[in-house]
Amino acid sequence: LDAPRAEKDLQLTRILVTAGPTHEAIDPVRYIANASTGKMGYAIAAAAARRGAQVTLVSGPTALQVPEGVVRMDVTSAQEMYEAAMAAFPGCDAAICTAAVADYTPAAPADHKLKKAHEHLNSIELVETRDILASLCSQKGERVVVGFAAETNDLLANAQAKLVRKGADLIVANDVSRRDSTFGADTSRIALVSPVGVTQRETRPLPEVADDVLDATRDLLRGRA
Ligand code: CTP
Ligand code: CA
Repeated sequence: LDAPRAEKDLQLTRILVTAGPTHEAIDPVRYIANASTGKMGYAIAAAAARRGAQVTLVSGPTALQVPEGVVRMDVTSAQEMYEAAMAAFPGCDAAICTAAVADYTPAAPADHKLKKAHEHLNSIELVETRDILASLCSQKGERVVVGFAAETNDLLANAQAKLVRKGADLIVANDVSRRDSTFGADTSRIALVSPVGVTQRETRPLPEVADDVLDATRDLLRGRA
């Protein structure tokens, strides 16, 4: 196994990481969420800080501790994550979007706890959220933007489509139908999908996957310099 990178090869590099799920309020006590734990994004934030980067971690609700040397901004909803990420991005050199952002949010969350005896709720009207990764890409200039694609089928085709649709420099694809690569796992099996091609990796512990994603990000940044 590779040892964690010891050298400070990301010194003076400012990296924005989005991580975790978002919670979309239905009423003050209920929300729509997803299975993301934030582990991948936190592993990337921790590894980047260890390698000398200045890391801003915009995090949805997770059970994880702030990694050493990382500045965390806590958010709840997709809209809050959008605002925090867009505000932090101009001061960064690269963004790595690992968050599982809700694609839809309730159109009109109730301001009181819904009662089953009174409201007979049988559907919730949803509206689309904003795409943070695509928005960052539209303003990226010389910055590097990396996205993730968690898929259960057609992994590489979906990842390639996201690379083009969003305008990212790199998409990290992982097959969440595999037990060794799913939400909450301590390992991941990724493929790096870029305009020049696809590199498939073996299943590895998250800290090694994090270093791999950061190596690719660093190389893209060097290519710009
Ligand atoms: N993403 C984002 N903001 C959103 C939706 C997605 O920043 N509102 C980012 C994720 O952080 C990830 C990438 O876009 O880096 C791909 O997310 P994914 O959910 O796989 O893509 P979608 O375009 O939402 O497509 P779908 O969920 O239909 O597969
Ligand atoms: Ca999505």
